[in-house]
Amino acid sequence: MNGNFVYYNPTKLYFGEDSLNYLIDELKNYGPVVLLNYGSGSVKRNGIYDQVVAILQQAGKTIVENPGVMSNPTLEKLREGIQIARDNKVDLILALGGGSVCDYSKAVAASVYCEGDYWDKFYLKQQQPDAGQKILPVGCVLTMAGTGSEMNAGTVITDAENTFKVGHVFDARLMPKFSILNPRFTMTVPENQMKAGIYDIMNHIMEQYFSDFDDNTSDYLSEGLMRGLIVASRKAVKDPQDYEARSNIMWTATWALNTLLGLGKREDWMVHMIGHSVGAWTHAPHGYCLASVSMAYYKRAMQPGMAKFARFARNVWGINTEGMTDEQSATAGLEALKSWMLEIGLPLTISELGATQDMIPGITKGTVIYPAGYLDLTPEEVTAILQESM
Ligand code: NZQ
Ligand code: ZN
Repeated sequence: MNGNFVYYNPTKLYFGEDSLNYLIDELKNYGPVVLLNYGSGSVKRNGIYDQVVAILQQAGKTIVENPGVMSNPTLEKLREGIQIARDNKVDLILALGGGSVCDYSKAVAASVYCEGDYWDKFYLKQQQPDAGQKILPVGCVLTMAGTGSEMNAGTVITDAENTFKVGHVFDARLMPKFSILNPRFTMTVPENQMKAGIYDIMNHIMEQYFSDFDDNTSDYLSEGLMRGLIVASRKAVKDPQDYEARSNIMWTATWALNTLLGLGKREDWMVHMIGHSVGAWTHAPHGYCLASVSMAYYKRAMQPGMAKFARFARNVWGINTEGMTDEQSATAGLEALKSWMLEIGLPLTISELGATQDMIPGITKGTVIYPAGYLDLTPEEVTAILQESM
């Protein structure tokens, strides 16, 4: 392990079927006005909203409601939430929903007391809030497993007007103060979203795993998490009401992206960068966007990262690679990944998500290109990946 790092993660987690019982105690740590952010109605239909509101009332809080946080939240909705928080002098933001509501809540929390243009500062210039800037505390009651937003400082916002979806990872001040993870709450997630979440988790791990050549403890942790996810995903797809499987998926999601696995690593994230742009154009679930471009991307990354891809075959998929070259092993690993994706029922092309040829220049333009794990892409290569993924 050759990298240098600081590890700090202040989010307190409550996990399990009884976890909502702890909300009342957490609320004592904050002032009287709570901004309750939630999505397009699932929490009302499945009764989680009523449970949370009852606890807020019992705690004597003034509830300011902000419903309608859409999947892949928009800049326009962000502006609305900031105004509500300013007008009501909010003390705590409570996110009730999936990654979109959690991300959105953090974005509001960072921006309410930001002087100047928060969009330009945080998302276009990728700066952090000034030292000393007031930041509102965020708590999450998570209803969907996938993003890891419950224990990280990431926020992804879509500028719908310019068809541009962009993320910003804030510093630790924006990590949720607490998150409540009840796997039972995820049981009503529609099957397509459950599958999208499963692939999002897998891909978060792969984005961190497929980088560097040194022997790194993080890679062993990643392999264990991927193996567990594969087992749990197969059970959950067969029986979405399998609590044990859903519980393992939820816990794996948190560890897949709570800043642990990337320690001391270069990391990759290009599948996410391309996937975000596909999402801005197609509005498909985040995990589906990642799945649809993965095979074309990893075939390219495999060449410079051959040894790691061969290890992926052995240690994640359990393939006996004795007598095989690294290239044969690596190819077998990617084939195993593809078979699992098909078995789960994930889309392998962007056309399945509604992308058309005429969108490719725009998707390419909207792809933020980072120095990646094993290869640094050019815009022309992004276009080629998209063409192969049609
Ligand atoms: O709108 P509601 O009613 O809440 O319905 C949601 C939404 O339609 C529904 N849902 C959630 N929990 C449910 C439920 N339906 C029934 N029962 C439940 N218990 O599921 C749909 C999808 O929810 P959403 O929150 O959008 O999904 P997800 O958790 O995948 O979040 C996606 C967003 O997170 C960002 C993505 O880009 C995307 O904008 N990401 C955030 C990351 C982070 N913070 O680190 C990293 C990820 O890579 C990702 O980019
Ligand atoms: Zn993701």
